[in-house]
Parts: sequence; C-alpha cells; structure tokens
Amino acid sequence: MCGIVGYIGNKNSVPILIEGLKRLEYRGYDSAGLGIIADNKCTIVKRKGKVSELELSLKEHPISAPLGIAHTRWATHGEPNQINAHPHTNSSGKLFLVHNGIIENYNVLKTELQRNGYEFYSETDTEVLVKLIDSFLQKKLELSEAVRYALNEVKGTYGIAVGYSDEPDKIVVAKKGSPLVLGVGDGENFIASDVNALIAHTSRVVYLEDGEIAVVYKDRFEAKTIEDEQIKKEIHEVTVALEEISKGEFPHFMLKEIMEQPHSVKNSFRGRLLFEEGSSKLGGLQGYEERIARSKRILICACGTSWHAGLVGEYMLEQYTGIPTEVEYASEFRYRNPIITTDDTCIFISQSGETADTLAAMKEAKRRGALVLGVCNVVGSSIARESEAGVYIHAGPEIGVASTKAFTSQLIVLALITILIARRRHLSLIDGQTIIRELDLIPGKIAEILEKNEEIKTIAQDFINAKNFLYLGRGYNFPVALEGALKLKEISYIHAEGYPAAEMKHGPIALIDENMPSVFITPMDSVYDKVISNIEEVKARKGKIIAIASKHDDKIDNLVDYSIRVPETIRMLMPILTAIPLQLLAYHIAVGKGLNVDQPRNLAKSVTVE
Ligand code: F6R
Repeated sequence: MCGIVGYIGNKNSVPILIEGLKRLEYRGYDSAGLGIIADNKCTIVKRKGKVSELELSLKEHPISAPLGIAHTRWATHGEPNQINAHPHTNSSGKLFLVHNGIIENYNVLKTELQRNGYEFYSETDTEVLVKLIDSFLQKKLELSEAVRYALNEVKGTYGIAVGYSDEPDKIVVAKKGSPLVLGVGDGENFIASDVNALIAHTSRVVYLEDGEIAVVYKDRFEAKTIEDEQIKKEIHEVTVALEEISKGEFPHFMLKEIMEQPHSVKNSFRGRLLFEEGSSKLGGLQGYEERIARSKRILICACGTSWHAGLVGEYMLEQYTGIPTEVEYASEFRYRNPIITTDDTCIFISQSGETADTLAAMKEAKRRGALVLGVCNVVGSSIARESEAGVYIHAGPEIGVASTKAFTSQLIVLALITILIARRRHLSLIDGQTIIRELDLIPGKIAEILEKNEEIKTIAQDFINAKNFLYLGRGYNFPVALEGALKLKEISYIHAEGYPAAEMKHGPIALIDENMPSVFITPMDSVYDKVISNIEEVKARKGKIIAIASKHDDKIDNLVDYSIRVPETIRMLMPILTAIPLQLLAYHIAVGKGLNVDQPRNLAKSVTVE
C-alpha cells in the first residue's frame, strides 16, 4: 500500500531514500515525504503528489544526512495533501515517524492525548502514534522503549520507522500486519517495506515478524518483541536482480510484464513437470500430497485478480480431482462464520503475499484446523511465511499495479497442484501426460499471441471512447471474462462487467445497443455452439463484438466485428491463453486515452489495509 524506506550509515541518505521511494511508488502514490537527522537536528520535507515532486523540491533546496526515513503514501485517513503526508512529528519536531497500516483505536488514543494537552495538526492516525510515543519519551524512556510501550496500546496494523534527534545513532522499526524488512550492509543498514527498495544496495535481508521491534544502528541491529523478549533474527539472501524491477526498453511496467509471460510462465513450471509420470513435482507441498488428496473439500480464498485465478482453479480441481472446491473472497470469508473442518484444504492465492484480507482469512482457516496452503509470488512475504506449505509462482517481481503475469503464473501453479492431486486420485497416466505436454507448450503459444500486439492496438483505438463494456465467457473462460473486465476498468476507468455468457439473457442483454461493446471469449470447446448463440443475440441488437477465438475457427468472422485469434490447448489451460489478448486490449485502450497505466488512480499494488 504505502511504502517505507530508510537508511543509516556514512553516506548521504537523501538520494538513497529518493531512489528507494521510486522503486516503491507503485505501492501508493498520492504524497511523499522524508525526515533526516544531521548534526542532531531533524529536517522534514513533504510534498503532495508523486515522488518526483519531492525530488524536485530537494533539488531546489538540497539537504544531506547520514540517517533518514521516507514514505510514499496512499491515503487511508485524511485527504492526500502535504499536511497529511508522512513523516509525522511531535511538537518539538525532534521525533518523526512513517507508518504503513491503520491504527484502529486512534480516536480513543487521540482523545486521551488531547486530554493530556497534545494538539494535532493532521487528520491522520499516524500523528496519534507519534504523539503517543512522545508521551512515553516525556517519561524519560529511551526511544525503543517508548515505541514499545506505545505499540502495546495500539490496536490495528503497522509497519513503522522512527527517528529521534536526541538519539541520532538509530532508527527504530516495528511491524504488525504490514511488511518491514531490514537490509544488512557493510557499515550501513537499510529498512524498507518491500525488498525491491533494497536490492540495489544489498541482498542480505532480515524479515521482521508481527510483534517485533528492531533498533537499527549503522553497523548492527537488535531485535526484541513488543513484550520485551530479546530475539535473534536470521539473515536471508534474496536473489532478485535489478533488471527485474526496471522497465528496460518498455514504456510501462504493465507492457513489460505482459510481454514477459512466455518466460514468466516457463519459470512457474521449470523443474516441476514430470513427463513420464504424467504428474508434477512441487517441493513446497512435499509430505502434504496425501493429506490434500484425502481432503473432503478444497477452499480457495483470494482477492481481485488472484480470486479470478482461484475461480479457474475451481474448474480445474473439480474436473480432475473430483474434490468439491469452493472459491471465496477473502474479505467475506474472514467476517462470516466459515464452516471449516480439519478435513479441508484451504489455498490462499496472493501475488504480493501481503493482502490484509487474504492474510486474515488464512489465519482464521489455520485457527480452525484446516490445512493452509499459500500460492504467492513474493518470496518471504507474510502469506508465504504464515502458510503451512505452499508453492511460489516464480513470476518475478510484478510492479505494474494491474496484475498480468502473476495471473497466468497462478493458473500454471493451480494446474500443477491439480495434476499432482488428480494423479493420486483417479487421473490416468495418459491423461496426466497429456496435461504435462500441453503445459510445456504454453510459453510458445503465449509468444504467438503476443505477436498480435499491433493488431490488438489497432482494435483498441476504436474503443477509447467507449463508456461501458461487457465481457462474456463460459466454463473455464467465465473467470477470464471477469478478469478482462477488471483489467479494463482499473486502468482505463471504463465501466466493464464480466458475466457468464448464458446469464446475459437474464438481465444484461437489456444494456445491449450500438454503444455497448461486448467481448466474447469463445474458443472452440464444448460450449462453443452455445456461446455462438449468445453472440447472435448481441448481434441482433446491433452490439459491437470483439471475439477472442480459436485460431482455426473459420465461422466466427461472419458473426463478429473483430476477432483476435489464439492457438488451442486443452480446456483447463485455455484461460492462460485467452487472458493475454484481454490484458493487451485493456492496456492499449488505457494508453490510447492517455492514462498512466502503471499507476491508475486510487489504486495501490499491495492492499495491506482492510
Ligand atoms: C488487479 C489487481 C488486484 C489484486 C488484488 C489481490 O489487477 O492487481 O485485484 O489482484 O489486490 O492482490 P494479491 O494477489 O497481491 O493478494
């Protein structure tokens, strides 16, 4: 959501902070700020808007310091303006703090602090936290103790970093529900809410767990729990390369990530296909295969695009394993009384591995005794660490806010899980081998679709003024319709709805006229003829139609205005192919409208608040 970056060492922290913020900007981008300590004095600079605004003002009035913390914000409490931007400070300006997450009891704390004479200048929950820490500093506690005492009074989630000019040799950080990582350097240390902000400087990282505080000096760090137990933290090596988080020659991360898919999808199944056995090998599930295969029910929980991947997973798992499978929005699951038993397997899908709702749903399922599996992209993320077992999708860093390559890689991993379990149940060797062979062919087929980029761009030009869109598909391609509509609405701001094609006549057909374009996902599968009937119904009402159709379909062009052809594969893998033209269509429509596709309005990459 928001991003935190910090530095303590012998260098000037300011350029390091700005560069780190730029790498985190995809997480949130309505305002940015930094606080530094030089010669025992704090300086705070904040700006509304993007990190470039902050950078510009620092170019006009340069500052320098060996300690600094910075923040890029995505507003939750209070409008995005300079006053509400982080860092927030105490009244003397000696103490400053940046915060990701939400302090749920901030109103109660604020009233209490006001009663004790504290005044507030912003609308944020974060200012309450900095003043709460200040109230403990007034009791002559050291900074790390004041932070610890304050956090013991806080309800909610936080990843924080705190600087104090009376203790200028340290940054104090803490985490609960919002990610926080330390980067260990040589005579210098870094902090960030995402390893992407650190990898230009160090590959050695320490992941803080919920309820932990670290005091970071330039040459060491000390960790404890908020209950004051000293703890020893392990240093991990991360392997992300800098090119993976750069745009390279592409105008946008989104296009780069769409174009990467032959490669990212291959990485998702690399070393995991067992051609002879007609099965898959998933190290992260080793030892759990039998328990999953014996589950009475599989429950998939996720949000947004990951939820759409889960819907495709439901079709796969039910078709091949015969285990009843349900898919739930994590945000709904966590607030009802879900019936979960120890015979259930729950799969939590999350690109970022940090989505607050998915994480909370996972904890609830775990508490109720289900086997809890994670399917994540970000290595070492909270959901990955919280799960009992799981599978990384290995799509590589996804920076564009609209999820693209993570979706196709999630589908690959769901197919691998399906085949692993199905082969332990009743899937035949021959059928298993067919799926594995088809999986192996997917990257080449994706590359073939990506060659149609210019063709799709031309089609997109005809729709940049559309106000609404319908996306329709059946069976395995119904979730793709939902995903296509989500891609379009989130980056182009065109209202779009995904529907099961046959449901159209139960209501949405009333919307059809010459101004309501429809996208039909209609590969030549068992429901092809039925979808063709739905196409005829739209045509009869003068609706414009774009079809995502099979390469060998020689009938479709007589029925639709535009067709984008995709190669064929088995039904369960078809969504991996049909999703790609829809990603490109949304991308080109949004770019045609002159919009910033990598940072769409009101959105953030990783939703670490409810
Ligand atoms: C849409 C999109 C979001 C995410 C959702 C879940 O393009 O990116 O809908 O899919 O916020 O995020 P993760 O997968 O990180 O849990």
